[in-house]
Amino acid sequence: MLIDDSIISKGERINFALRKLFSGYGYKAYRMSKFEEYDLYARNKDFLISDNVITFTDTDGKLMALKPDVTLSIIKSSNDDLEGLLKLFYSENVYRVSKSTGSFKEIMQTGLECVGRVGIKETAEVIETAAKALTSISSKAVLDISSLSLMERIAEDLGIEAEDRGEFFKALGEKNLPSTLALCREPSEGTFELLSSLMAMRGAVKSISGKLKELLLKYESESFYSELFSLIEILKRSEAADIINLDFSVACDVNYYSGIVFKGFCEGVPDAALSGGCYDRLMRRMGRKSSAIGFAVYVDLLEQEGTSDEEGTDEWIRVALPKGRLGEKVYAIFEKAGYECPSILDPGRKLIFENEEKKIRYFWVKPSDVAVYVERGTADVGVAGKDILLETEADVYELLDMKTGKCRMCVAAPKGFKEDPSRALRVASKFTNITKKYYRARGRDIDIVKLNGSVEIAPILGLTDVIMDIVETGSTLKENDLEVLETAIPDISARLIANKSSFRFKAERIEKLVKGLSGAAEEK
Ligand code: PRP
Repeated sequence: MLIDDSIISKGERINFALRKLFSGYGYKAYRMSKFEEYDLYARNKDFLISDNVITFTDTDGKLMALKPDVTLSIIKSSNDDLEGLLKLFYSENVYRVSKSTGSFKEIMQTGLECVGRVGIKETAEVIETAAKALTSISSKAVLDISSLSLMERIAEDLGIEAEDRGEFFKALGEKNLPSTLALCREPSEGTFELLSSLMAMRGAVKSISGKLKELLLKYESESFYSELFSLIEILKRSEAADIINLDFSVACDVNYYSGIVFKGFCEGVPDAALSGGCYDRLMRRMGRKSSAIGFAVYVDLLEQEGTSDEEGTDEWIRVALPKGRLGEKVYAIFEKAGYECPSILDPGRKLIFENEEKKIRYFWVKPSDVAVYVERGTADVGVAGKDILLETEADVYELLDMKTGKCRMCVAAPKGFKEDPSRALRVASKFTNITKKYYRARGRDIDIVKLNGSVEIAPILGLTDVIMDIVETGSTLKENDLEVLETAIPDISARLIANKSSFRFKAERIEKLVKGLSGAAEEK
């Protein structure tokens, strides 16, 4: 039967290509119900991306759930076979809360699971399949791999406390070296150097494996890395080797994965299009002795985005700058670094400016929106205050402290304020997430009033007891008879951020920009 190509959607086309690829590697299609007993998720909450699960009661009174995850169901229904190899692929909808809307969303995932006697050869084959899955979708794609066990070992040697591990992996995922180093309790010089070098290292397995080996062998004997080195040797000879990179910032969920983890990106798609890894930790938790590795392709995301092979997109750097006082200081640093765009200084209400020769395009956006433009890939890089990054929890790289816009986040109140511990504290703020986190950590019950500006006025007029806000010079507080009670976040400043996908496809240009800005920010 011939099918008219024009009636096949982009998602269907991607799914067909993936099914063909997975079948070719010996995977069998696995079909499952949309429902699962809720108990499976209640027992394995740590392994879910979010605690939110849609539940309903079945006709026999059993509490059921719409699947938020496919892997748990596959493991549950498979045998714990230490000798054999179960190779399954699926194309299923999962139900999760969307970060952007805060409500439940149906998400299409196509992926595979390889369960049983998974050794280095099988791991390499899954990675190769993931790389080929990406090339079947886009002609410009990369698959970045990392070793979670190596990074966990380094975290341990640096004395990073168990409760700080989440923060460590988050900072690692942001390529934020100062934040990772700030968490180290016992930084030995060697480990410190190793972490810095690994975080800066990025490149094709083919070309950087020698450099990696040299670096790691200074730290630990060869036998310790034998698995990682053998895997790299196989990957170097893979048909997909050209797009398989080492990048230690790939820090997937540490509760779920262990060992090798990887993420795939396609040019023009702002977020990871594929994510996977070895999940032996989950297997042990489910009482299994065998090993497992798998990945999922986010077909929904690929369907929405123009996986553009657009001409020339990689030449330009698109920069989101914060409009206003901070933006002017920040632009001066870009100018000093050699990225001038004189028209930007023209008075007027124009918001987009470009310098054709330097291939740089600037957008003036509201300071609180910079992170959104960068996270969504409309801008490749941007400059946002650390306060905004903490508030929005934007999934971006934080590449440089621009050493400007320095301030702190404080709790302030009218002079002489006495807190009444017998009732909830009323707090006014533009930063509701930061405020909630701060008081949750202290176990203090609060009532938040979200305001968009002139927050200082709230306690004066009796709207709230205190405020949580930025203090730069302190003059706004002084002129309104307020005083600082506590400093919640001491070192806020403007940070250069980058979209994680753009960074991969424009790495050279962005790294050059970071170097130039770093020099100019120091000189200022
Ligand atoms: C910020 C902040 C304080 C003020 C602090 O407000 O919210 O009001 O600056 O600076 P200072 O310590 O130097 O006095 P912004 O100027 O952004 O205006 P807004 O209150 O309208 O948000």
